[in-house]
Amino acid sequence: MNSAESNPRHVPPNPTTQPFLSKFKKFTFQTLPLLILFTAIALGFTKSNYYKLHYLKYSLKSQTLFHSLFSPPKHVSTPSHCVLWMAPFLSGGGYSSESWSYILSLHSHIKMRSFKLAIEHHGDLESWDFWDGLPQDMKSLATELYQTKCNMNETIVICHSEPGAWYPPLFQTVPCPPSLYHDFKSVIGRTMFETDRVNDEHVERCNRMDYVWVPTEFHKSTFIESGVIPSKVVKIVQPIDVKFFDPVKYEPLDLDSTAEWILGSGESKGFVFLSIFKWEYRKGWDVLLKSYLKEFSKDDSVALYLLTNPYHTDSDFGNKILDFVENSDFEEPDCGWASVYVIDTHIAQSDLPRVYRAADAFVLPSRGEGWGRPLVEAMSMSLPVIATNWSGPTEFLTEDNSYPLPVDRMSEVMEGPFEGHLWAEPSEHKLQFLMRQVVDNPAEAKAIGRKAREDMIRQFSPEIVAEIVADHIQNILGR
Ligand SMILES: *[C@@H]1O[C@H](CO)[C@@H](O)[C@H](O)[C@H]1NC(C)=O
Ligand SMILES: *[C@@H]1O[C@H](CO)[C@@H](O)[C@H](O)[C@H]1NC(C)=O
Repeated sequence: MNSAESNPRHVPPNPTTQPFLSKFKKFTFQTLPLLILFTAIALGFTKSNYYKLHYLKYSLKSQTLFHSLFSPPKHVSTPSHCVLWMAPFLSGGGYSSESWSYILSLHSHIKMRSFKLAIEHHGDLESWDFWDGLPQDMKSLATELYQTKCNMNETIVICHSEPGAWYPPLFQTVPCPPSLYHDFKSVIGRTMFETDRVNDEHVERCNRMDYVWVPTEFHKSTFIESGVIPSKVVKIVQPIDVKFFDPVKYEPLDLDSTAEWILGSGESKGFVFLSIFKWEYRKGWDVLLKSYLKEFSKDDSVALYLLTNPYHTDSDFGNKILDFVENSDFEEPDCGWASVYVIDTHIAQSDLPRVYRAADAFVLPSRGEGWGRPLVEAMSMSLPVIATNWSGPTEFLTEDNSYPLPVDRMSEVMEGPFEGHLWAEPSEHKLQFLMRQVVDNPAEAKAIGRKAREDMIRQFSPEIVAEIVADHIQNILGR
């Protein structure tokens, strides 16, 4: 056994000179169970989840891609070109839902394609709960696309993940590309960041790729300014499923059936603000609470619902909010606080449109976003959206289709992998003003919401984005 096999977290010291391909075959077929076991132990999976995941990976793989990808082509039918999309398909989370949105778009809208589609899980840990919660048609599609047979030299690989996962990966994951870069027709990295720059390690990894796909003009300029070779950077926007996120198809969810009441009287709710985010500083929940609680009181009959989940924290959000309010400099209004609720239970994807349906406006004063999925979902659901006018969302926020929230200043990221980068401080004062404007002018807010949906349909419908992706692939194949 070499060192990589005896220690699953070990990265080959000098991967470019190692016979990676043959090792990888061995890796896949002999040490996979061992790897899963180590991973499972490291993460404290329950025994049953471990077996379920093991079985899932085994049944997807045993059929499958790697037999054929790395063995002589036996029954390769036309078209012989492949697009192998590698992403955290089985994980849930941002890259996972983004990659699924491309696969579903391509699968259903590119009929006469001159390439086959293949997928492979990569870049994050598998989650049994996520897989279990997928609709049956997505599970079937995953199984089908795992079995696509490809020739390496005729394959375009798309590594859809953070650059640290790209070959050679900085943590334990199936490498992408699965062997040396030049073994494939072309290798594309798909990634994005939430700050004003890309760090040197990531720039270097981007420049190893033939192309780097980013979702917005903001990323094109931050990537190029940071040193990514300009001719490699291509903007590919993100699709939004406007048929699924269609307000006419849903009744509002009874939010109070899942929400925990935190602050205020909890009585009448004339107007409902909704925010959806992972509980992290970047999302500006502090700005949101401050502006909301300063602007409104019990007499305004408004409510704020925060649909959130933990991000490297525990999930005691109610106490976090109460602590925050207690340690802030603003006073409780004489008539009492405006209402605040938290929803931290898992909302199935199929119920998500009903959550948006239950709101009158969506608000997210984030300090930086890659794309801002909840924003486009809310816009597709015809909600008026108040969101920070900086980073990824500048791709789609306009004064006609939303309430772009101005930025006060740039501030330094104080912790985490992007420490020292800059992101935006949204204006608390303007946020107060915009929230009040939406409450006081419901007709205007509705018109803005309608325009939001029109723009989502026109710019980011799956069939439109599928064409954009297919065109770029066609260009590469045509050379
Ligand atoms: C790819 O390799 C196969 C054999 O391994 C060969 O038959 C085929 O012509 C090659 N395709 C290209 C585009 O070079
Ligand atoms: C939002 O940002 C864009 C780009 O930075 C700018 O052109 C636009 O004027 C801004 N809109 C508002 C309402 O601040």
